[in-house]
Amino acid sequence: MRGIVYTGADVEVTDKLEVNDPGPTQVKVKIVAAGVCHSDLSVIDGTIPWKAPSVLGHEGAGIVEAVGSEVRSVKPGDHVVIATIASCGTCRACNTGHPTWCIRSLGNVSTPFTFDGEPASNFAAASVFAEYTIVSEVQAVPISKKVPFSSACLIGCGVLTGVGAVLNRARVQPGETAAVFGVGGVGLNVIQGLRLSGASRIVAVDTMASKEALAMQFGATHFVDASAGDAVAEIKKIVPHNPRAVSGALGPGGVSWAFDCVGHPAVLRNALDVLDWGGNAVAIGIPARGTEVAVDVNSLAYVDRGLLGCRYGSSRPQHDIPLMVELYLQGKLMLDELVTETRPLEGFREIVEDMHAGKLARGVLTL
Ligand SMILES: NC(=O)c1ccc[n+]([C@@H]2O[C@H](COP(=O)([O-])OP(=O)(O)OC[C@H]3O[C@@H](n4cnc5c(N)ncnc54)[C@H](O)[C@@H]3O)[C@@H](O)[C@H]2O)c1
Ligand SMILES: [Zn+2]
Ligand SMILES: [Zn+2]
Repeated sequence: MRGIVYTGADVEVTDKLEVNDPGPTQVKVKIVAAGVCHSDLSVIDGTIPWKAPSVLGHEGAGIVEAVGSEVRSVKPGDHVVIATIASCGTCRACNTGHPTWCIRSLGNVSTPFTFDGEPASNFAAASVFAEYTIVSEVQAVPISKKVPFSSACLIGCGVLTGVGAVLNRARVQPGETAAVFGVGGVGLNVIQGLRLSGASRIVAVDTMASKEALAMQFGATHFVDASAGDAVAEIKKIVPHNPRAVSGALGPGGVSWAFDCVGHPAVLRNALDVLDWGGNAVAIGIPARGTEVAVDVNSLAYVDRGLLGCRYGSSRPQHDIPLMVELYLQGKLMLDELVTETRPLEGFREIVEDMHAGKLARGVLTL
């Protein structure tokens, strides 16, 4: 079987993979399309420590090939989006609608593959850069056959993460203002989530000026090129403080929400610095373990500012994936427009180069 393996030092496109048969509560999926998310690159460069060898890819869609004896919710032939949250379904977190808090859903690495005869791990409980993968029943979410696989796959991470951060975690209200740092696959989905929420000003920020057109297409009202100067000052010019309000200490003016879709402490600090009184920053980007951000506690405590983390859009995949599909079919959510480049597995390195060059919304591998 073909796939992309993280070998510890690099990646290898190989045909030396095999996958197990599904266990009683598992589903075997024939992957048709898979998006390349920055988190895959973060495994390769060591930002996200992971076992090797392992099969990369966690943003995928495909066709159910076989199901275990106890699986009831999907059957062979169904089209599915793969959720990366292998939540247990029985714990308190799962039963209060927070599968992203399920302790079983983080770091539950298993070895459903062999690579050249030796056991190989999965990544993010998904491993969709392979012709076939094995997931738990709760992760194989059936979708309408009307959605092309190359668009559907993006729901599996970038769309759920970005739109979910706005709808589920921040719960942005109509008329609120926002800044979005990082106009990649995740940031574009934060932008379109903000558009869906009726945010009044959506300021997109990127160090690549080439991202402006994409940001505006997805719903940004303004774009700030962070490589050209002080992004925080530029954003505060776009969303100044109300001149009739008391000004002075603790930096009034700025946005109600700021989303870090980059994963760098300086960006997260910028996200905190552009908040108006009462505003909240949402940390989505994933820097190296142990990364810290410094902030004057007074700037939070005196004026109700906050810092929130957000994993996987705080999503409930069995609810949110069908919702994303419905919004897409109604013409309210852009998926096809996110796919800027499609290549076979062998084109992985070209996609990575084009991501680094700022050319892509998302690159998609087809199997
Ligand atoms: N929390 C989660 O559940 C979750 C889920 C998916 C991805 N992520 C993380 O989100 C981050 C973004 O992922 P992606 O797939 O969108 O990446 P991407 O590579 O598609 O996009 C990143 C964007 O950030 C821009 N950028 C880089 N440095 C910048 C800076 N200093 N200021 C402003 N913009 C800058 C790049 O030009 C690019 O446009 C990664 O850290 C990824 O690991 C987190
Ligand atoms: Zn991802
Ligand atoms: Zn659970």
